[in-house]
Amino acid sequence: SSATTFHLPARARWMAEYDSVDQLRSILADSQFATMKRLHIGAGSNLLFTKSFDGLVLHSAMKGMSTVADDGESVIIRAESGIVWDDFVQHCVDSNLYGAENLSYIPGEVGASAVQNIGAYGVEVKDLIVKVEALDTFTSGMVTFTADECRYGYRDSLFKRPDLAGRYIITAVHYRLWHTPRYTLDYGPLKELREVTYLTPATVRNRVIEIRRSKLPEPSELGSAGSFFKNPVIDKSMWRHIQSSYPEAPHYDVDDNLVKVPAGWLIETSGLKGAVEGGAMVYQRQCLVIVNTGNATSDDVVKLYRRVQATVYDRFGIMLSPEVNVI
Ligand code: EPU
Repeated sequence: SSATTFHLPARARWMAEYDSVDQLRSILADSQFATMKRLHIGAGSNLLFTKSFDGLVLHSAMKGMSTVADDGESVIIRAESGIVWDDFVQHCVDSNLYGAENLSYIPGEVGASAVQNIGAYGVEVKDLIVKVEALDTFTSGMVTFTADECRYGYRDSLFKRPDLAGRYIITAVHYRLWHTPRYTLDYGPLKELREVTYLTPATVRNRVIEIRRSKLPEPSELGSAGSFFKNPVIDKSMWRHIQSSYPEAPHYDVDDNLVKVPAGWLIETSGLKGAVEGGAMVYQRQCLVIVNTGNATSDDVVKLYRRVQATVYDRFGIMLSPEVNVI
């Protein structure tokens, strides 16, 4: 259970941590594990175990980081999968490199960043990724994927495709960061930073951390997995219908036909703010987060998330899908 940020009781039959690709290969080749179900985890910040996992849980402890290219305008940093994501961001900000600061303070590790295409405040990690190194567990060979080949979408990638899930284990990610200033300051509370004369990545990072702390539970204090649901993308006709009853509803245009609506708003408007099942609660300051108030069971979380889905569906005709991986 200590391996997930929900702080729920959960067990796995085996757990193995490796600190080199060779060690990973030998674990995978071990006859004891060869036929077992496998699950690769990062920091466990996006996982909900609903029962014990009867198999092998793998975790990368590879933490190498180096600059592999620098043309004066931008650099490419190769970071191994087990690096804590926010340590990577801190490193970039300390080096006065631009690009990662909006993604400050997101829980998780480098490997998972490239699976999940983490995003916040107008930036997605796919904007930084140049390529991904992975072990192909079918052949035991190393493969690399360009950012295009990773097929990134909203919290989505090739690595989440059901037919490929588990085949590739990401071992390192190459990110491009910039020496020259480039900020993304379109998100409401970041807009005011446009007026700052001597803006640095560190200033943006600090503001992002402040915003996250004001809305999202502190991972060390209150168990959660960040956003529990994805923001649904619906078509314009459905959106107009919602807008006719809620002219103020927040939304982002995806393209001419599609609109993304914040799940947190749908949940709050459905009257679920602070809704409780056992030890699980819809977080009051950001309703798309489900928190463990102390002694939640995974059943409590499952009951609560299904109730949220059903209630929002009744009110809006929209089925929310979990962002969290339900195992
Ligand atoms: N809102 C409500 N009630 C709520 C929550 C939100 O009315 O309980 C409204 C807000 O007032 C605002 C809008 O919904 O108008 C959007 O809220 P917010 O800016 O907090 O962002 P979000 O769309 O709810 C997404 C990401 C977050 C990311 C933020 C900022 C998803 C599933 N979540 O949330 O990512 O930090 O944008 O970019 O896309 C995560 O993935 O774990 C995560 C926290």
